[in-house]
Amino acid sequence: MELDTTLDRRREEFPTLASGIHLLSHSLGPVPRKARESMLAYYDAWEHHTSEDAWATSWWEMSAQVGDRIANILGGDAGSVQIQPNASIALSSIASCFDFSADERNKIITTALDFPSMQYVWDAQATIGAAVEVVHSDDGISVPLDHILEAIDDTTCLVALSHVSFRSSYRVDVEAIVERAHRHGARVLLDVYQSAGAVELHASEWEVDFLIGGTIKWLCGGPACGYLYVRPDLQKDLQPRLTGWVAHAAPFDFAQPPMRYTDSVRRFAQGTPSIPALYSVLPGLQIIEEVGVKRIRHESERRTEFMIDFALERGWKVNSPRDVNQRGGSVMIYVEDGPAMVRHLAERKVFVDCRPGVGLRMSPHFFNTDEEVRDAMEILAEFI
Ligand SMILES: Cc1ncc(COP(=O)(O)O)c(C=O)c1O
Repeated sequence: MELDTTLDRRREEFPTLASGIHLLSHSLGPVPRKARESMLAYYDAWEHHTSEDAWATSWWEMSAQVGDRIANILGGDAGSVQIQPNASIALSSIASCFDFSADERNKIITTALDFPSMQYVWDAQATIGAAVEVVHSDDGISVPLDHILEAIDDTTCLVALSHVSFRSSYRVDVEAIVERAHRHGARVLLDVYQSAGAVELHASEWEVDFLIGGTIKWLCGGPACGYLYVRPDLQKDLQPRLTGWVAHAAPFDFAQPPMRYTDSVRRFAQGTPSIPALYSVLPGLQIIEEVGVKRIRHESERRTEFMIDFALERGWKVNSPRDVNQRGGSVMIYVEDGPAMVRHLAERKVFVDCRPGVGLRMSPHFFNTDEEVRDAMEILAEFI
């Protein structure tokens, strides 16, 4: 992987970077300087709106506009993304589209490397007839593709798993999973929280059915802005039971029931959108769009490769895949006492986190310099 000498790291646009080496993009991205302006613009709009005109003049459209920009990052078409309060709600919205008690196709396949919400949400559906199968990981790093494919059969309703694992940064082979699932009449949902903004995504090309995620990590946005991608040709067939007035065809008629879902992706909305969250994500999205996910990924491959080589040369245990084609943007390094190591590193101004059974999670993003990445590893070497 060659150094991209033309990449503008936009460091001056992230004030937090002055306080140390930020390697936490898998958790909480640094705030873009322009987020302050954006939040003030929100306040100004709020102060100046004296009636419901706030909705008519800008706020109603904002959710769809931000959704379309996220759709573009996901490799989907305009009109394919509905903003959600968070990724867990996005997942529950899709869960609420299926009737497990009435259908023999009731199997949900997840994996041991998914974020806990995945299991919590599907286990909750077990009480209404879903049969949840968790594909295990032998090494805690990867889940063999064969095991995922073997689990998919004619009773499978949905394969719901992380595109990139928050635990190990393992990246699944999307095309093989979608191909097998569709052949058996099943749908595929990917949690792309750990890949959107770090890895190129191709929602339309992949023909994947659903994507869920949020903006606070690799997309440098604020909290409470989740998103849900639904394959455009599927949208009208689905009627989420997790719903509300914003999903209605004519929300401002405040019509009596029955519910009449709108035809657009807004049918996956619930209630009043979180307007401050939408303002908070605009500057980060703009930076990611301008830098470009293709270049971000190129840099990420080069630096994660360096970090893994550095670790393996010293005999450390790396809890992320060695193969770049199976990896997201993070590198997990086993240490005995994760919380203590996170504290030691923070004292030296290296900001990472840890997870039980995993060790340290370290994530270089486009704004990190090569020197920062090397310094972080050398400081870690002093402690290990
Ligand atoms: C892969 C993944 N999915 C889901 C979540 C949780 O998302 P939310 O808090 O928006 O539900 C996280 C992290 O917070 C995550 O890393």
